[in-house]
Amino acid sequence: MNQHSKTKLALVAAAAILAGSAAFAQQQFYNIVDGSPLSFDDAMEEGRDTEAVKHFMETGENLYNESEDPEVMAEAEDLYLAMCSGCHGHYAEGKIGPGLNDDYWTYPSNDTDVGLFSTLYGGATGQMGPMWGSLTLDEMLHTMAWVRHLYVGEPNTAGWLTEEQRARFTPFKPKEKDKADSEQS
Ligand code: HEC
Repeated sequence: MNQHSKTKLALVAAAAILAGSAAFAQQQFYNIVDGSPLSFDDAMEEGRDTEAVKHFMETGENLYNESEDPEVMAEAEDLYLAMCSGCHGHYAEGKIGPGLNDDYWTYPSNDTDVGLFSTLYGGATGQMGPMWGSLTLDEMLHTMAWVRHLYVGEPNTAGWLTEEQRARFTPFKPKEKDKADSEQS
């Protein structure tokens, strides 16, 4: 075997190992009420394979959380206001649905983004229906980023933040946001 084909073989082997570990790292998602596995066959065609969705399915990490891209955060806010605030409150303080802006969860898995995604995709009980027919997977990640942005509690008890994110997370300030919005309009 010449040097060239040896290198090629080594590359193929490395690629196989990488593919294997990526498959291993795939996140599993379960319905938060009955624990049945969620498959994404029902998800809308659009928004299935954005970079953020692919990254999330592999790692459980939401690239839109505290994004520095103002367009991402603007879309996140719009989606939350259109789809969630009617039941959960403008700032996720709670209304007919529970508050989503603190670290208390009826379903403790919502302390992680994999859990929160599973709640959105598969729904919970009563009025909290599944969102797979109303939001694309990519829109779910945007909406989640706004829910996390609205968090008013201690960064240290926010399970969805990494150590590094905890160090720089500033809890949401409803009054400052009211003021900024009224100055803008
Ligand atoms: C029609 C009203 C309604 C809408 C719209 C709605 N929810 Fe809910 N949501 C509820 C209710 C009621 C519950 C409580 C259900 C339960 O405990 O099983 C709930 C529960 C939840 C929970 C679980 C909270 C916990 O403490 O574990 C999360 C997370 C959540 N909703 C997020 C959202 C997001 C994000 C949206 C928008 C994409 C949304 N909901 C839209 C009514 C709604």
